[in-house]
Amino acid sequence: MSEIHDWKTFIGYLSNAVEWQAPEKFMENAQKIEGALVQIANHPEAIGHRGEEILENAELFERYQKHCNYPRVIMDKFILYMDPENRFRVRLHRFKTRAQNGGAVDRPHSHKWPMCTIMLRGSYTETVYDVKEIDERTKFARITPSCSRRITPGMTNSLDYGCIHQTDCDSDEPAITLFVRGPDFASAARIYPIGENRYYETYGPDQQLRVGYREITRLNPLFH
Ligand SMILES: [Fe+2]
Repeated sequence: MSEIHDWKTFIGYLSNAVEWQAPEKFMENAQKIEGALVQIANHPEAIGHRGEEILENAELFERYQKHCNYPRVIMDKFILYMDPENRFRVRLHRFKTRAQNGGAVDRPHSHKWPMCTIMLRGSYTETVYDVKEIDERTKFARITPSCSRRITPGMTNSLDYGCIHQTDCDSDEPAITLFVRGPDFASAARIYPIGENRYYETYGPDQQLRVGYREITRLNPLFH
């Protein structure tokens, strides 16, 4: 891996070295992306400069705005980079403490894209779940925790699309992660409400709003 010492070399490496459209290369790609995250994490000033760039560029700020989520209950999401070919995005996440989020608990969920992350500040515990039984027709699902580990500063972590996980910022300090997501390889993310043996699908903001419009105009109050 060539030396990554600033934002440009970081994005250049991600753009050229990763086979984004090859879901079967998850492990190989994750190793490369995690390596790049470790390197850029040694240059926090590069992240600060990128923040200034976004704040000073009205066009960039406006483009990223609709893909950010802040303020949110459990996790705030800030876009740092969107690949022009839409293969990957880089974000900063802030996970609030239990005290900050009023005791809200992240529900086990899966994403439609593979992801890699590095812990920059604070820590959280991530639990990964196994699917024991699933019926896509009735959306019945029985899942059980398979492993849990605490992610601390400097640690990296990757998760393939469709894998179920849950994070818990169970300390006094909020956590900040630098995060890279790949392209969509599934049609929707899934949420598995705790103790309910079921799942439901969630979508990007546009499509989710369409689901909401359809249900509320049928006067159905029970949509997600
Ligand atoms: Fe997640």
